[in-house]
Amino acid sequence: MSVTKNILMIPGDGIGPEIMAEVKRIMDWVSSDTGTIFNVEERLIGGCSYDAHGEAFTDEAMDVAKASDAVLMGAVGGPQWDGVDYDKRPEAGLLKIRKGLDAYANLRPAICFAALADASSLKREYVAGLDILFVRELSSGVYFGDPRGIETLPDGSRVGVNTHRYTTQEIERITRVAFDMARKRSGRVASADKANVMEAGLLWRQEVTRIHEADYPDIELTHILADNCSMQLVKNPKQFDVILTDNLFGDLLSDTAAMLTGSLGMLPSASLGDGGPGLYEPVHGSAPDIAGRGIANPIAAILSFAMALRYSLDMGEEADKIEAAVDRILESGIRTGDIMADNCTQVNTVGMGDAILAHLN
Ligand code: IPM
Ligand code: MG
Repeated sequence: MSVTKNILMIPGDGIGPEIMAEVKRIMDWVSSDTGTIFNVEERLIGGCSYDAHGEAFTDEAMDVAKASDAVLMGAVGGPQWDGVDYDKRPEAGLLKIRKGLDAYANLRPAICFAALADASSLKREYVAGLDILFVRELSSGVYFGDPRGIETLPDGSRVGVNTHRYTTQEIERITRVAFDMARKRSGRVASADKANVMEAGLLWRQEVTRIHEADYPDIELTHILADNCSMQLVKNPKQFDVILTDNLFGDLLSDTAAMLTGSLGMLPSASLGDGGPGLYEPVHGSAPDIAGRGIANPIAAILSFAMALRYSLDMGEEADKIEAAVDRILESGIRTGDIMADNCTQVNTVGMGDAILAHLN
């Protein structure tokens, strides 16, 4: 009997639908390669959901997400929703699904493909062979802490409030993910915080140290201040293997690392909870400036699907094949506009999908 996997696809806004169409074609290939049946549901997320339903991700869509084996997302947001209230904005839909799936462990590999080392804004020798794994806490911290809001003070001026807050349990579970990942890699973890100014950062450092001493003495742990981490990432990025950090610092630092790899269009991510479906999304945004033109780079979304195969669908071999195909395509000089270089062949979104499929076949 063939295996059936339930997939929720939420292409979202901007270039989301274009890149997810290429993911769908790769999924069809995996299906023919393995006999697995992908039972695909589609729902709206982000601005398109707000336009259709008045909210960025509906409870009905959340139920479908929870019942699936993996959720594949495109991107959310665009300037046309800039004026929408915070709790209904496109980004609120993304935060709602991350929280609803309790997807607290955001894995963001920053790998510099050899063929792209010259596309980085850093010199080749600093980035060639780069392979960092960000383990970003995704379901707490300043993104979700209460109290939050904008209030008017008695004198008529206003105050904006957000709360940066972490419990020991929240720190412990993400720390264990980072140490477990490091065991499968070089065994090194750098934990980035601001323990020098924030109590929540001090607690972070204390808890990471406690768990390290108790259960992971084999791991080489360093603590680094998040500002220094951002500097070290552009000074000597190859010193890092696994970087463990909180929600906000992870957002900032992973964008910096993205640039080291040549293009934000290359970076996949997986967001995992304990049990339940993982959420897979490219790190790049909805790119409204190029949306609808069919020129976006679908590789980050395709590599995110590969992560879904590995972490949620128990199909690691298929993930390996897709990653190898992407590598070979880049080696052969096929490029979308964002990673275009001298003597390479420029293709559009569908052309990149075609090329990867041709290699897979
Ligand atoms: C990311 C994005 C999101 C974040 C936005 C779109 C809410 O920047 O996934 O890095 O801040 O987490
Ligand atoms: Mg970000």
